[in-house]
Amino acid sequence: MIVILALFDKLDVADADKIANYISGLQKDDGSFAGDEWGEIDTRFTYAAVNCLSILKRMHTINVQKATDFLVRCRNFDGGFGCTPGGESHAGQIFCCVAALAIMGALHHVDKDLLGWWLCERQVKAGGLNGRPEKLPDVCYSWWVLSSLVILDRAHWINKEKLKDFILNCQDQDRGGISDAPDDAVDVFHTFFGVAGLSLLEYPGIKSIDPAYALPVHVVDRIFFRQKC
Ligand code: FPP
Ligand code: ZN
Repeated sequence: MIVILALFDKLDVADADKIANYISGLQKDDGSFAGDEWGEIDTRFTYAAVNCLSILKRMHTINVQKATDFLVRCRNFDGGFGCTPGGESHAGQIFCCVAALAIMGALHHVDKDLLGWWLCERQVKAGGLNGRPEKLPDVCYSWWVLSSLVILDRAHWINKEKLKDFILNCQDQDRGGISDAPDDAVDVFHTFFGVAGLSLLEYPGIKSIDPAYALPVHVVDRIFFRQKC
């Protein structure tokens, strides 16, 4: 909800203190975040918490050091990150951890070459990216993988031209939209991530997207650099 309000320049309708109070209440003693009152722990929730609090300028309401320490405990021997400590590296979780660390100013905990190598190995012959070894390529990883590579300054380690062609081949040429893989049915999830991936590839006519916040760069600039009149 917060990112949608940010997109529409309507953050003022949110009660930032109440939201921050709710989110900070989900942080556990080990620095992790639960998704809700039922207590499931996952690095996705850390990302959502950090992204939201940063946009609301309420990062001081959580223990940032502990949140960072928890993400570091989710880091694996291959440089990647999982859902919880010991969890298998997966590109979706890697995005969550790398982007949250970037927002918290803690990217020095990431081995950029090691993780950059694992991420660029996600590109298959067809040009698309998968989420972990031996899996099929899927358009949404054009976001989860490429955004992480951009944050790590290693995006030039993949073949951008081939990835662009893979995404464009997943379009429904007649009715519009983008699917997960060529000739599959289109959906709004993969359409978003296809367009977001094309933005990171600097495809003509698509505005720049911020790789950590997953919001247009002009929106992020507005949040952090514009004085509200
Ligand atoms: C399937 O993986 C899972 C996905 C395609 C989604 C991955 C994305 C995340 C975990 C990040 C979500 C982030 C937020 C902020 C909610 P799979 O390896 O089981 O299967 P597949 O790659 O073959 O589809
Ligand atoms: Zn997908």
